[in-house]
Amino acid sequence: LVAPPRPQDLAGRHVVISAGGTREPLDPVRYLGNRSSGRQGYALARTARDRGARVTVVAANVSLDDPAGVDVVEVETTDQLRTAVRAAARTADVVVMAAAVADFRPVAAAGHKVKKRSDGVVDPILLEANPDILAELTAERLRPGQVIVGFAAETGDEHTTVLEYGRAKARRKGADLLAVNAVGHGLAFGTTDNAVTILDRHGDVLGAAVGSKDEVADALWDEVCRLG
Ligand code: CTP
Ligand code: CA
Repeated sequence: LVAPPRPQDLAGRHVVISAGGTREPLDPVRYLGNRSSGRQGYALARTARDRGARVTVVAANVSLDDPAGVDVVEVETTDQLRTAVRAAARTADVVVMAAAVADFRPVAAAGHKVKKRSDGVVDPILLEANPDILAELTAERLRPGQVIVGFAAETGDEHTTVLEYGRAKARRKGADLLAVNAVGHGLAFGTTDNAVTILDRHGDVLGAAVGSKDEVADALWDEVCRLG
């Protein structure tokens, strides 16, 4: 079976995608991180390339093969991701924040490996908040007319559903599109299949996509192209 060629509806556009998950060093051998594999971000990169876009991926700790014909900038920390995304965003028509960004970082990383204490007492780790890269991008709009897309990983809890958390996040972040997916309990992170609900900036549902990460990516590009 040969897949039908994709429409060239991203031709002439520069698309910037952050992928993977940031890590914040605790000491030279340890970090605070998350389980994001970068698969959804890389699927977005491949499909955007196949739809004619010039693609820059800012890859945080992704151990997948680089997609052919795509610029890949490798980063580790949230600070590095922020600098690389902002630099690329100055020429971008579309920015997609698919990376799982560490919300907190240690106030200071030790210069040497932290040793166990002989008295068995464990020192607490003091954390501070990382900047919200997506919220900054939507507030500043580094390039006029740029379409900005966020992802929201939610688990839901006994009070609030995944979709309700997503709707609140859409209103808070100011992104043009927010793709909400359910995570945890074996869903989404590190898997090949994905299911997302696509919201606009008011939290209203534009559509849903279930399937491979490529199919979810294509559905998201369809919505980006619908915005103009
Ligand atoms: N994001 C970001 N910078 C951060 C945290 C998140 O740019 N410091 C982006 C992510 O790349 C994603 C979107 O914001 O596109 C939503 O991330 P998420 O972790 O779901 O939302 P948070 O605002 O961090 O809220 P919380 O983790 O408390 O649910
Ligand atoms: Ca977060």
